[in-house]
Amino acid sequence: MAPALPFDEAGGALIVGITASYGLVKYGGFLPDKEDEPGKAPPPIPGPRVLIVGSSGGVGHVAVQLAKKCLGASFVVGVCSSKNTAFARQIGCDEVLEYDKVEMAKLAGLKPEWKESFDLIYDMIGSDEFYHPLAPLLLRPGAPYVTAAAPVDGARANPVSLLSLVSAVATFAYRTVLGARPFRFVAVDNSEWPRIAGWINEGKVCPVRVR
Ligand SMILES: NC(=O)c1ccc[n+]([C@@H]2O[C@H](COP(=O)([O-])OP(=O)(O)OC[C@H]3O[C@@H](n4cnc5c(N)ncnc54)[C@H](OP(=O)(O)O)[C@@H]3O)[C@@H](O)[C@H]2O)c1
Repeated sequence: MAPALPFDEAGGALIVGITASYGLVKYGGFLPDKEDEPGKAPPPIPGPRVLIVGSSGGVGHVAVQLAKKCLGASFVVGVCSSKNTAFARQIGCDEVLEYDKVEMAKLAGLKPEWKESFDLIYDMIGSDEFYHPLAPLLLRPGAPYVTAAAPVDGARANPVSLLSLVSAVATFAYRTVLGARPFRFVAVDNSEWPRIAGWINEGKVCPVRVR
């Protein structure tokens, strides 16, 4: 439990908290703070750089806070709509890419200094629109592209058909085997919850109602 939260909010925080944490720590390779795990190597100086697609959403807004306040990230870029830019900055994003204003395919020209400088992309959307331009452009060689959402384009508001399921499996296999960078899909259990609950109770992370 996270006593700092009312019971109903703690229930919501559980799934977004463990998904955010799993994506960053277990699949993304971020190291928990030194003081949390005595004996573990300190995080690299400066801390890792991460881009979070869906930074204003349930999982994403916790991932931003974890990265910045608990896991030593030195630079956090969020992707969300322009109506949520202020919120994304408030919770810890250093820069925000507004998906309704910025074409990801043109990012190379807009941010040449970001080329191959990121240690992780954590994606809450899963669509080609982000994977294809961002993975080869931004990730340093060997750095992973982690997704919490299955790569099924256009399925968010629609029922998932058999065809789209087959397409998702094929896309997953293709990216895993032939992708320029490691590609990982997040599958969670509740083993990360005690650590998340601790950070919530310390006030380092504050899950909020985002809808
Ligand atoms: N693998 C797992 O174990 C696991 C566990 C939990 C959740 N999930 C999955 O993780 C995903 C995210 O869940 P969530 O609860 O965080 O969702 P959510 O609260 O609906 O958040 C969605 C986020 O995506 C952004 N977004 C919406 N449309 C977009 C678009 N066209 N392009 C770019 N960004 C867009 C939203 O930004 P704006 O609001 O600013 O538009 C928001 O930041 C879901 O697919 C969910 O099923 C997986």
